[in-house]
Amino acid sequence: MLSFVRDIARASGAVFAAVWLLIPVVSLAAESYAPKVGQSGKDVIWVPTPERAVERMLALAHVGPDDVLIDLGSGDGRIVIAAAKSRGARGYGVDLNPDLVQLAEQRAREAGVSERAKFSVRDIFEADLRSASVITLYLLPELNMRLRPALLKLRPGTRIVANAFDLGEWEADAIDTSTASMLRLWVVPAPVAGRWSWSLQSNGKSQHFELDMNQQFQRVSGVVALGQQRLRLRNPKLQGDAISFVLLEQQRVNHGVRTDYFGRVKGNRIEGEVTSSETGKTTKWIAVRRG
Ligand SMILES: C[S@@+](CC[C@H](N)C(=O)[O-])C[C@H]1O[C@@H](n2cnc3c(N)ncnc32)[C@H](O)[C@@H]1O
Repeated sequence: MLSFVRDIARASGAVFAAVWLLIPVVSLAAESYAPKVGQSGKDVIWVPTPERAVERMLALAHVGPDDVLIDLGSGDGRIVIAAAKSRGARGYGVDLNPDLVQLAEQRAREAGVSERAKFSVRDIFEADLRSASVITLYLLPELNMRLRPALLKLRPGTRIVANAFDLGEWEADAIDTSTASMLRLWVVPAPVAGRWSWSLQSNGKSQHFELDMNQQFQRVSGVVALGQQRLRLRNPKLQGDAISFVLLEQQRVNHGVRTDYFGRVKGNRIEGEVTSSETGKTTKWIAVRRG
């Protein structure tokens, strides 16, 4: 039906034909298009995420009105539409099947969210992900793995939610098994590996700290050189750009001092605060990456 209309428009060359004939027929076509579960797609078939699992995916990522959600392989648009309708987010879906994209647009109009839920015919590997604060995936393990390098380059704190499949050895930060679907959440970690240094005042003296930090995804470890002492990071945590750890400094025999560090990673700087167990005081902490 669609190609028939396109042919008429081309043959007549009349612009009004495209405007007056195409639009109503396109919307009719979208309404009557009924995708079949399991129908083929370029890299993965279409199987929709069940509506209850869609809500759980959005809850897992704490999607809210400030979010921009991108669904890679958006099918009938249900995740993007639900993000816009029930959470007030803006969303964008890409799918290589133009019929599904048209159906998603139609469903967004019907749900009254077409301003905030947009779709386009695009390959998942060619989508510009930079504006996303949340990415959703229901693809295949190997596709997730091919996307992983690009996902890890996204702004720290970007949340990724996947239905069914994981991201290899990048462990999920949270899992939801409350529906029949296996849902996982990852938070893109800031890159923190390297040598960091900072100074702190203690009893009127300046102490210099050098930290060698290792990182595997959100897992971090490290050793701090403080004079002759070597202090292992205790309870290190990295979530997005938020980093925290504890140092136990041996000041004299049987006298350890605990300091709690919390900061935000901003490129080659960490800005935050340190709380000493000895004084109970919290002071400013700025660390700089040297290499
Ligand atoms: C399993 S369905 C998921 C649909 C939707 N995200 C959901 O959860 O309901 C995967 C979708 O990816 C689309 N797809 C397959 N390969 C693609 C590619 N290379 N680029 C864009 N979309 C693709 C298919 O057309 C299909 O709609």
